[in-house]
Amino acid sequence: MQNYTSLVNRQHPLDATYIPCDLVVCEFPFCAERHEEKRLLCETAAEAAGRLLEYGKSFGHLLYGVSGYRSFERQNQIYQQRLQESPAEEVNQYVARPGTSEHQTGLALDISSPGMDYELEEEFGETPEGKWLAVYAPMFGFILRYPRGKEKITGYAYEPWHIRYVGKSLSLYLALTGLTLEEYYDI
Ligand code: DAL
Ligand code: ZN
Repeated sequence: MQNYTSLVNRQHPLDATYIPCDLVVCEFPFCAERHEEKRLLCETAAEAAGRLLEYGKSFGHLLYGVSGYRSFERQNQIYQQRLQESPAEEVNQYVARPGTSEHQTGLALDISSPGMDYELEEEFGETPEGKWLAVYAPMFGFILRYPRGKEKITGYAYEPWHIRYVGKSLSLYLALTGLTLEEYYDI
C-alpha cells in the first residue's frame, strides 16, 4: 500500500529497486500509448487525475497527461540525455537525479494542453488551463509540487505542469497554508 504523503526529493531518495505495486494504465486523455510506461500511475492517483481532468472539461479546459510513472532506469536515461544537451547546473533545476524523482513513486503526473502543443513549459502556468489546474488540483488530492517563489525550498524551478497526489486532506491543507511538502515536514 502506497504512502501518499511521502516526501521524495534529493535528501529523501527512493531505492533504485523501488517499483509501486499498484500501477494501472491511465484511461484519461494522455499523450502516450497504452503500453508506454509513462502512462502508468498508482491506482488512486490515476482515478483522482481522471476525475480532475473530466471536471476540467466541464470548464472547457482540455488537459492531457504527458508523463506519469518513470522507473529508476528511465529517469536515469532522461537525466543522462539532458546532461549531454545542457550544463549540469541547469539540468539539476528541472530533472531529478535517478532515485530522487517523484515520478518513480507513481504519484506524480505532468500535464499539458493542446494549446501548449502538449509541451511542458513555464508558459503553461499563464494559460487558462494552467491557472485552472493550480486552483482545482488540490480539490482532487493533488498539489502543484514546484511552485513559483519556492525554488530554493523545493530545489527545482517553477513547474506548473507537475502535480503530485498526496490525498485530499493534505492537498487542501497545503493549498490553504501555501506550504510546500518540504515546509510541511519541517514544521
Ligand atoms: N521534473 C521533476 C523534478 C523530476 O524530474 O522528477
Ligand atoms: Zn514531473
